[in-house]
Amino acid sequence: MSSLLLSLLLLPVLLLTLASTLEFRYHSNREVEQYLLQMNTSNPDIAHLYSIGQSVRGQQLWVLALGLSPRRHTVGIPEFKYVANMHGNEVLGRVLLLQLIDDLVGGYRRNETWSQLLLNNTRIHILPTMNPDGFDSSNTDCQYSVGRFNENGVDLNRNFPDAFAGLKRQQQVDEEKREAEVRAVIGWLRMESFVLSANLHGGAVVASYPYDNSNGGSEQVGGASVSPDDDVFIHLAKTYSHSHGSMHRGDVCADSRPFLDGITNGYQWYPLSGQHAGDTSGFHLVSLNFT
Ligand SMILES: *[C@@H]1O[C@H](CO)[C@@H](O)[C@H](O)[C@H]1NC(C)=O
Ligand SMILES: *[C@@H]1O[C@H](CO)[C@@H](O)[C@H](O)[C@H]1NC(C)=O
Ligand SMILES: *[C@@H]1O[C@H](CO)[C@@H](O)[C@H](O)[C@H]1NC(C)=O
Ligand SMILES: [Zn+2]
Repeated sequence: MSSLLLSLLLLPVLLLTLASTLEFRYHSNREVEQYLLQMNTSNPDIAHLYSIGQSVRGQQLWVLALGLSPRRHTVGIPEFKYVANMHGNEVLGRVLLLQLIDDLVGGYRRNETWSQLLLNNTRIHILPTMNPDGFDSSNTDCQYSVGRFNENGVDLNRNFPDAFAGLKRQQQVDEEKREAEVRAVIGWLRMESFVLSANLHGGAVVASYPYDNSNGGSEQVGGASVSPDDDVFIHLAKTYSHSHGSMHRGDVCADSRPFLDGITNGYQWYPLSGQHAGDTSGFHLVSLNFT
């Protein structure tokens, strides 16, 4: 694991401290789109905006790719991806990813070494909202979980194929029941070879690492569903939680279990099938919440 990839993973926690030209507040889907279009137009040398598909209500799922060769893969340059707001009411991640874009591009323009090193040596794909429809409905109602689901009332983080489907056939989501947003992300994963990913959620202060689902029982130790890259994931999760102001302390609400070091194996936290983390190419679920 290169230190570049590691520092990339840490960016959302670190960037809050840096100055930014982008206003630090929630942005509507329209504002997010306008911002991405503008970043794309003003930075053709390092930015490439593309849509991976549309939400149920026809909103584009925009991805901004940043790097020295933003339009295509370069041999030896790893592909990294960030996803936020797949639960429409978990909104902090989309704010952080817009800040990340602003700071990466601004830093590059100002010849800041950290940004130049990252953009010269990785290609970073950023999907600020995977569930824009859910976000829109969460705006109109502050009740718990309103806006979590997509327009069809489906939890997108339960709608992906299960990597161990052969072992747990009853939990597999039928192909025809797959939602538009999930099909778009699956197509995206087929298009690019991501080596590391992070998915920003809300509701818990913890870095959660794969697997989230049962791997069939053969590799389970102490209630964890252990992946072949377990040591790497634990290292990444700890580095993230210790770079955060309080995550590593494992503080949680009184009624839940504390997270030792602010990290958890996803399955050990709670077993879950059909989640985006089921794609095993990377570190997938970083949950963040500052409220
Ligand atoms: C991004 O900018 C390029 C260069 O200006 C332009 O050709 C392209 O159409 C833009 N992409 C989108 C999605 O607007
Ligand atoms: C950044 O560095 C390049 C090459 O050394 C130089 O041409 C450019 O003027 C610099 N830009 C700024 C904002 O310092
Ligand atoms: C990044 O690449 C650009 C373009 O090739 C170059 O001008 C710049 O010096 C590089 N920066 C670093 C830190 O390597
Ligand atoms: Zn979530």
